Amino acid sequence: MTASIIDGKAEAARLRLRLAGEVAALKAEYGVTPGLAVVLVGDNPASEVYVRNKAAQTREVGMESFEFRLPADLTESALLALVQQLNGRADVHGILVQLPLPPQISAEKVLDAIAPEKDVDGFHPMNAGLLAVGKPGLVPCTPLGCLIMAKGVHESLVGLDVVVVGRSNIVGRPAAQLFITESCTVTVAHSRTQDLPGECRRADILLVAVGRPNLVRGDWIKPGATVIDVGINRVPKEGGGSRLVGDVAFDEAVEIAGAITPVPGGVGPMTIACLLANNLTCARIALGLV
Ligand code: GUN
Repeated sequence: MTASIIDGKAEAARLRLRLAGEVAALKAEYGVTPGLAVVLVGDNPASEVYVRNKAAQTREVGMESFEFRLPADLTESALLALVQQLNGRADVHGILVQLPLPPQISAEKVLDAIAPEKDVDGFHPMNAGLLAVGKPGLVPCTPLGCLIMAKGVHESLVGLDVVVVGRSNIVGRPAAQLFITESCTVTVAHSRTQDLPGECRRADILLVAVGRPNLVRGDWIKPGATVIDVGINRVPKEGGGSRLVGDVAFDEAVEIAGAITPVPGGVGPMTIACLLANNLTCARIALGLV
């Protein structure tokens, strides 16, 4: 059996189209254009690409994009001052501080300083807490994109065995919370898990977010399972250059799984589309509609 390929690019394009309509309706009814501020400190080339893509897609759905590019030697207090200023701006509904930050700046301090109602990344402890108790809040974009793709494959998620590999605050932990809220039976595996292949083999939905190229092999996958690969790893290509691969050995997995996300073109595009969805939610919160 060959798995069907989950087309994250197409799914993200559909979501952006829906968002563009909702943004236009919000403008017509309330005269408000959702604004997203993206803050980039330093010149990490991968972050630079993300930020450019985010800005272009923000404008594509009719939102305002505010970009702040700051030098790598910026002080923590200067960044905290900018965040406070953005917290107070009525035209900025969502604030995203691109990670990683340079070593002199505490990411935790900065993320905690973002007003919870402008926290498009869903990283603030207030939003993490709301997610943990199953209440509405702003949910981290990558797990949200994974959930939407899982729902595109399965008519119902209720009772499915979901195994999440990775326990980061950005993907693994919030993804586990989201799937619990969907009434799945969730296992979180990680680098200290005793029998990682065995845990993975139990999964109806296997979500892998560890950042280790080709960690998950084909024979770790239950036949027919849905595989969501969050990894984006740059590896050398035979004959020179480099290419992107996920955390799952795709060529092996595609022969066993029922559905699988490719890398690139799977989770990545959905993450940005979900960021825009969250920014619309932030604008609705500011208007008192949520
Ligand atoms: N760096 C890589 N991915 C992300 C993300 O989703 N949010 C932020 N703030 N920084 C990132």
